[in-house]
Amino acid sequence: MTTSRTLIGSRSTGIGSRALAVALSLVTAPLLVVTSAAHAHAANPTLRSLAEAKGRYFGTALTQGDLNAGGETSIAGTQFDAVTPGNEMKWDTTEPSNGRYNFGPGDRIVSFARSHNMRVRGHNLVWHSQLPSWVGSTPLNQVQRVMESHITTEATHYKGQVYAWDVVNEPFNDNGSLRHDVFYNAMGTGYIADALRTAHAADPGAKLYLNDYNIEGENAKSNAMYNLAKQLLAQGVPLNGIGFESHFVVGQVPASVQANMQRFANLGLDVAVTELDDRIHLPAGSAGLQQQASDFTSVVRACLAVSRCVGVSQWGVDDAHSWIPGTFPGYGAATMYDGNDQPKPAYHAVVSALGG
Ligand code: G3I
Repeated sequence: MTTSRTLIGSRSTGIGSRALAVALSLVTAPLLVVTSAAHAHAANPTLRSLAEAKGRYFGTALTQGDLNAGGETSIAGTQFDAVTPGNEMKWDTTEPSNGRYNFGPGDRIVSFARSHNMRVRGHNLVWHSQLPSWVGSTPLNQVQRVMESHITTEATHYKGQVYAWDVVNEPFNDNGSLRHDVFYNAMGTGYIADALRTAHAADPGAKLYLNDYNIEGENAKSNAMYNLAKQLLAQGVPLNGIGFESHFVVGQVPASVQANMQRFANLGLDVAVTELDDRIHLPAGSAGLQQQASDFTSVVRACLAVSRCVGVSQWGVDDAHSWIPGTFPGYGAATMYDGNDQPKPAYHAVVSALGG
């Protein structure tokens, strides 16, 4: 539009025909590019292009195994512009024994992300799960040193390559108390501030997150996360964002998702939907798939309505590789792509929620 206005404006100033021809050639080339890009966009929108047009990213989790799969990998590289390694940056992979580091698997995910122009959400530095047994049997008075070395070594290795880190993952129980894991047992609540400060020292450019599940609506657990975030910020701890995992059951997305994200955003934090999926009792019928489409829509709309919501990531690309059936027997069909990598109603609903 601007280009056309400029052209018409040139004409009306009465410039000579030669100058006009030059102006036309300069102006029409970019116009053609813009027009064909717009056509491609309209004909074949992707989650990433639509999200980017709204100033957001749309991500997925990927594991090493996924990188060897065919259809799934090509969807990952075309539809999504952010990657969270499903397992490859967790402690049991990166430091399986004390001081022996293995960044090969994580590096492969980062390299895939780089070659597809995707950002990386680092996941994660400190978590009670997928923690090698040697950490649990470390004498309590040495756990802080072990935690700090782990964070420093991993965050330094990936310095400049990750957009954000889930520094502490899933610190809360559902009743809002802190989990009494080895880090809490050794250091009390202060382990969280210590982990954030250590990560910041190693990679000052990464956005540092606390990430948890069942904090998407307003409840005891999200209240506890809110109070913790407020205290950390008051103490000047480098906390930049809160990750809402968003592992939902179909039809049960809380009504308060947007209000809840907004209250964290009002503290001056970024917020992100980090692990979205929406499980259905199998076999998934058309009513379930329609409800799932509506659930995905509500989540995406909530993110678009909160200016500090930076993006949405689905946990995995397709139903065939989702963690759900292995963990919740009888449930599945939790993602936007079916087991044959065909887009489901939820995919089309998200495209439309993103303005496609
Ligand atoms: O690597 C071993 C392999 O050697 C062994 O043969 C096989 C047998 O079961 O297990 C493999 O480990 C599995 C690992 O994934 C890697 O595939 C574990 O059993 C399995 O429990 C583990 O599951 C992961 C889960 O975190 C563990 O909590 C899922 O893939 C991963 O998607 C999931 O991701 C978590 C997020 O990190 C945090 N939020 C919740 C989310 C879903 O649980």
